Amino acid sequence: MPDCAKAISKLAASFQTKTNSDHFAVYSSESFFPTNMPVRITRVSCEHYETGLGISCPTPRLSWRFEGDAFGWTQTSYALIIRRGTVENHHIIDSNSVLVPWPSSPLRSRESVEVEVQAMGSDGSWTSSSTLVIEAGLFTRDDWAAQVVTGANGDPDQPKKPYRVGARFHCPTGFRSARLYITSLGVHEPWLNGVRIGDELLAPGWTDYRYQLRYSVHDISAMLNPGEINVFGAWIGEGWYAGRLGFRDGVRNVYGSALGLLAQIEVDGSIIARSDLTWRWSHGNIVSSELMDGEIFDSNIDDNWSGLEGWSPVTMLPFPTSTLLTAEAPPVREIRHIVATDLFTTLQGKTIIDFGQNFAGYVRILGEPPRTTGKVVLRYAEVMEKGELGTRPLRAAKCTDTIILGGTVRGYKAKFTNHGFRYLEIVGWPDVSMGDIEGILISSNMERTGHFECSHETLNQLHSNVVHSTLANTISLPTDCPQRDERLGWTGDLQVFAPSLNFLFESSGFLRDWLKDLYEDQKALGGHVPVIVPTLPLEGLMGLCQGVWGDAAIITPWDLYLGFGDRQILKDQFASMCLWLDEGVRREPDTQLWSRKNPQLGDWLDPSAPPSLPGRGRTDPLLVADAYLVHATKLAAKVAELLNQTDTAIRYQSQSRSLLQAFHSTYITAKSRVISDSQTAHALLLHFDLLDESKPEQRGVLSRRLEELVIREFWQVSTGFVGTPIILDTLANHDMLHHAYRMLLARDCPSWLSPVLLGATTIWERWDSMLSDGSINSGNMTSFNHYALGAVANFLHTIVGGISHLEPGWKRILIRPQPGGNLSWAKTSYLSVYGLVRCNWHINSGFLHVECQIPPNCQAQVEIPGRESVEVGSGIWDFKVDWRPDERFPPDLVQPEFSRPVDKDWVR
Ligand code: BGC
Repeated sequence: MPDCAKAISKLAASFQTKTNSDHFAVYSSESFFPTNMPVRITRVSCEHYETGLGISCPTPRLSWRFEGDAFGWTQTSYALIIRRGTVENHHIIDSNSVLVPWPSSPLRSRESVEVEVQAMGSDGSWTSSSTLVIEAGLFTRDDWAAQVVTGANGDPDQPKKPYRVGARFHCPTGFRSARLYITSLGVHEPWLNGVRIGDELLAPGWTDYRYQLRYSVHDISAMLNPGEINVFGAWIGEGWYAGRLGFRDGVRNVYGSALGLLAQIEVDGSIIARSDLTWRWSHGNIVSSELMDGEIFDSNIDDNWSGLEGWSPVTMLPFPTSTLLTAEAPPVREIRHIVATDLFTTLQGKTIIDFGQNFAGYVRILGEPPRTTGKVVLRYAEVMEKGELGTRPLRAAKCTDTIILGGTVRGYKAKFTNHGFRYLEIVGWPDVSMGDIEGILISSNMERTGHFECSHETLNQLHSNVVHSTLANTISLPTDCPQRDERLGWTGDLQVFAPSLNFLFESSGFLRDWLKDLYEDQKALGGHVPVIVPTLPLEGLMGLCQGVWGDAAIITPWDLYLGFGDRQILKDQFASMCLWLDEGVRREPDTQLWSRKNPQLGDWLDPSAPPSLPGRGRTDPLLVADAYLVHATKLAAKVAELLNQTDTAIRYQSQSRSLLQAFHSTYITAKSRVISDSQTAHALLLHFDLLDESKPEQRGVLSRRLEELVIREFWQVSTGFVGTPIILDTLANHDMLHHAYRMLLARDCPSWLSPVLLGATTIWERWDSMLSDGSINSGNMTSFNHYALGAVANFLHTIVGGISHLEPGWKRILIRPQPGGNLSWAKTSYLSVYGLVRCNWHINSGFLHVECQIPPNCQAQVEIPGRESVEVGSGIWDFKVDWRPDERFPPDLVQPEFSRPVDKDWVR
């Protein structure tokens, strides 16, 4: 193979040039890898998959993560052993350890290979080796002998009653491995011989099933009974495929009205069972299970289905025309059990359990309610209002589970629904106690990579709230909120939050999958990027074409590239970027800026907008969309250049220049005053660098005005979805760190800390989702779990914590902590694709101490205040410098006409 041949010829060259060729002397798989070296490889991964099982890519790129604190360690070459029947040795002279090309011939369907990796450092040392087993999934349609089967699906206008589909089959003896390949039209939960297979929830997740249908691969080798009759069955529920989606009445049956199951069981690559007309179906003990409305469970119905007696024959559905592939995103799983913190009775006599944390998931019944003929009704909500369950913000989502009593209930948990909640109201179980019910937090199981902690407890809670809102809004896809009748993949919310998400969690596979849908939906809409992905035929959303939201097509792949260094994602999404700019954006014919006839959401939820009109903020929505358009066009030019698409790069560069000119003549006066005199407008210009090059004074003029605006608002948040994620960074990057800290630490509403001080455990959609008198904001947009405004986490990680990437993918790192406010220490870490990046600082007795850790194979620029910047390689580095607090902090009010008292007690 060409790659392989290149590697071998490079290897030959290295033999001639290396003086110390000890490590190369023996070239056999037994003694190839020396051991006991200081740098270790801790993880080998392929593409962006969580594991190597069932991947959909025949030539997976490989990455490995290092651990160890050797100083200045860089990789000079790597050795790969690939065991696929025969043993292949590849030795590649290359410093790259992330997404290196597959060096062998493409994998075949079902093929299993073992990859062992070891790296050599510039000091001649070898790391220990690490292995990954990669097993290909089913690459072609012909690999599927199974058919899609279905039971009775009832009235299409009603919720669908979940049912089970299954078969009895004989399992041969003497096999090495067994696999289940499974997907569904609807959501499924597979069982074998009475035991649940795997731990995936709501599989196959939500994709736009018209284009992509994900299947799962389960290792069932240890679950089969060889030489015996085995019983396989899977529950299927309506899920996103046929359930009610979206706000108000929503839409049902978006992808079809008949649920279906596609399942194939193989041992050593031979099919032993497959869904076909010999399979049978039956209802069970679940009466209904709807994503937003909840589940009804009848404990009187015996769920023993081992014999499949009395089940009816299935019928067949056409095989899906969409692409069948496995997800790179990790599956949704149970992440954490949450123990109740309180149980109380309301004035109306309702029993409430408080879980102490707002989260998304369901509950598990640990106790046993009375065996009466009645029912237990569980209602979920995020907040209490005036002492009772506050359900109004849930809008049309019923968020209610019902247990029909009579049989065993202990152990019950809902299957195909989930709720965003902290409080649970229980009716019908008079003597229920706290220990009778536990909460279960569910989310797409992304690896947690980013951490932040500092000396300010309220800030720590704010950060924890961001993490919890991330978990709740990454259930299969990035959503706006997890509780009310939306839970939709709003593109704008994700676009502003992605830098924080990419730091907190290993989100590359999760977002790469989602972006594929974005492009598919966009193509079907002639270039418009829908405001929600997957798109839905919802009244009010059809035809909506928006700046900021649609710009996710360009900015989100770019952010992924910065966070994970994968140029392939840019390649994959490049056509989508161009389509958005060339066909999607609705423009004015002369200026090419956004059409003035196309209303924009703009700086959505600016706190000055009335509750009922969240788009009516201080900043002209068109200015917001146009600023984004110039920025997105500049980025697209950069991407084109990176991908060697020179003509396109030149075209977008010239477009961005003329758009910028048009932007200036539309919105900026000759003396650099902005037509919308708001913080968001100024932050956009400064942050996106949308300045007029012929006016060198412009940056100064705009930042001075921004300072005035910040002071005028008493450092309270005066920005919406667009301005809030960038305001603090803009201040810090324009020599106004003291204002940034002052705003970050403000306690009066609207501010980041005000919800925290009211007891918030997640990020709210609006600063005053809950009013100080204990009543819920009257606005329609009143969620208590929206990650968008939590984008401030990026400021905590990069500016307070001091960790950011200097080059895409963390090969070069910037360590630049910027202490301020009344913080005396911060600890920040990020588990990058190379290994752990860490920066801890504390201020003590007039000194600033900084300890930072750079992973092997990386370089860092370290910039400590009051010290010249230095370049360092891997290892743990300590710095100690004189520390003089910023005298400008806390900033004073400079405009005497303001008589309003400022929150005095914020310095804590
Ligand atoms: C969602 C938002 C979204 C907005 C845009 C809301 O209903 O919850 O987060 O971005 O609509 O219109």
